[in-house]
Amino acid sequence: IVVDKGGHRHFMLKEIMDQPQAMTAALKDRADFANGRPADVMQLERVVLIGCGTSLHAAQVGRHYIERLAGIPAEAESASEFRYRDPIIGPRTLVVSIGQSGETADTVAAMHLAREKGATLITICNAEESQAARVADGALYMHAGLEVGVASTKTFVASLTILQLLSVYLGQLRGKLDAETTRRLVDQMARGPGLIGEVLAEANLYSSLARRIGHYDNFLFLGRGANAAIASEGALKLKEISYIHAEGYPAGEMKHGPIALIDPEMCTVALAPRDDLRDKTLSNIKEVKARGGLVVAVLTKGDDEAASEVDFPLFIPQAPDLLMPLVTTVPLQLLSYYIALLRGCDVDQPRNLAKSVTVE
Ligand code: G6P
Repeated sequence: IVVDKGGHRHFMLKEIMDQPQAMTAALKDRADFANGRPADVMQLERVVLIGCGTSLHAAQVGRHYIERLAGIPAEAESASEFRYRDPIIGPRTLVVSIGQSGETADTVAAMHLAREKGATLITICNAEESQAARVADGALYMHAGLEVGVASTKTFVASLTILQLLSVYLGQLRGKLDAETTRRLVDQMARGPGLIGEVLAEANLYSSLARRIGHYDNFLFLGRGANAAIASEGALKLKEISYIHAEGYPAGEMKHGPIALIDPEMCTVALAPRDDLRDKTLSNIKEVKARGGLVVAVLTKGDDEAASEVDFPLFIPQAPDLLMPLVTTVPLQLLSYYIALLRGCDVDQPRNLAKSVTVE
């Protein structure tokens, strides 16, 4: 396999730029939903999504998709916690493991446990012929191509894409989604690569923003709903590649602790695109501003009212709720990348981290 940076300075930037293609590849040939209603799908009582690192954040977004689209109670958990918890699962539990490598020791061990307890087990992974693919009853491959940067980017977007497909698939089989709704959702998904592309087309804006905020030593990422998981992913990206202390928090939890940290030395990155929760997050933004904090916010293009409340608005295109987490994640990746670059960090090979952690 020939691996090059495609003219970019780092693999990470190339992989960020490749995300529209990664989403297309994950969607390809899959939006053809089988007819029929297999009994085991009807009997599912619970879906448990597991993963580590970025894949755990994909699991947390997946939980929202499964509940909303398939109507099945779902939860997301770190594989390293799940494996030692003696979880109550059985044949009516669908366990979905998520992993770029399919080799993460904790994830594979958690899968073995799920197998012993008789759960139905599927894996979403990028690496074919991985351990995860061998242990699972079935594998949904990302087809994202090799990811070299230690910090996952395109495989995160690919994971979310497959989780959407899986949720719509289950929702359709279980009669939660009628044919017309299913078609509408599939059409929405097809718009994803274009919407991600629109954010990427403005990548240079992030480089100038990095120069304005790259010296802050503390970042708080806030979001609600599926965007709470994206806030965690944004914080993870920043700490992984730029070694800056960053926390991802559900915005509604801010008042229970993080608000005590707000002062002019704290940079808050809020996800407040136009959706049902936008007004709530906007109140959190105002609370941060009232305490002298700096606010960068990911907002929907045209939302001048929200933009007037923040120091640095980052605009994304209007997107259907389903696609929102895929679109809001891109500005955070770009911001982390350019801050790490500014600080002279080794973006593709950050200290102390490994692409795949095959030992406990
Ligand atoms: C390592 C990598 C992360 C990755 C995590 C899970 O910590 O540095 O980027 O998210 O492993 O990897 P997986 O292959 O299971 O998705």
